[in-house]
Amino acid sequence: MPDVTLTTLQSLKQKGEKIVMLTCYDAIFAKTASEAGVEMLLIGDSLGMVLQGHDSTLPVTVADMAYHTACVKRGNRGAMIVADLPFMANATLEQTLNNSAELMRAGAHMVKVEGAGWLAESIRLLAERGIPVCAHLGLTPQSVNVFGGYKVQGRQEEQARQMIEDARALEAAGAAMLLLECVPSSLGAAVSQAVRIPVIGIGAGSETDGQVLVLHDMLGLSLGGRAPKFVKNFMAEQNDIPGAIGAYVKAVKDVSFPAAEHGFSA
Ligand code: KIV
Repeated sequence: MPDVTLTTLQSLKQKGEKIVMLTCYDAIFAKTASEAGVEMLLIGDSLGMVLQGHDSTLPVTVADMAYHTACVKRGNRGAMIVADLPFMANATLEQTLNNSAELMRAGAHMVKVEGAGWLAESIRLLAERGIPVCAHLGLTPQSVNVFGGYKVQGRQEEQARQMIEDARALEAAGAAMLLLECVPSSLGAAVSQAVRIPVIGIGAGSETDGQVLVLHDMLGLSLGGRAPKFVKNFMAEQNDIPGAIGAYVKAVKDVSFPAAEHGFSA
């Protein structure tokens, strides 16, 4: 496939074709996923949990993220690479710029930052300096200690209204994309309609502009505990990993995933 760019993503949103994103942390999976048609590879700080075995994403460092971003870059075959700014890497504007630059030098095409409306200033600075930004709203795992657990966000009317307002403000500040995690499906649809930039969902229903899953989750691999409600194990009906990733791509594109059972009610 030709290299995926911001223009590709915008045109997919305009055509109503779903965007497929998957987390990825190394070269061989980057090759496998991009060849299977995954359009965006996310080096998520979820690597702290699935690769490093921590119980949250908080211990992940910028050096960890840069290392895995460089690994993914070497295997990638045309997907857009997005790298997470880990916990506290955007605590100040100076840190935000320096750490984002490090991830871009390692091979990212876009950085992802967790937060809400307060991100507007740093998004504006990054966008002005040539760094596309994805803003992560809803359940932002770096704030798990504030939320008191991994809980669905935006169920109350006021919270939902604020999230839509934040989405609009971050688009106005220059965000190139939004990622919405664990919100009611109706809010996923409302945010996607409220902005012109693509909105990728995880546990946000089927009406966002695209979907993302954690690679290990969709392959049915876990260190223990129950998989979240929004996860589907694509290995269950496939013989191999390329087949499972291909089935995920097809299911996102034909909107058979996520099904109603993978979503949350308001
Ligand atoms: O770190 C991560 O993997 C994420 C998820 C939303 C996919 O941010």
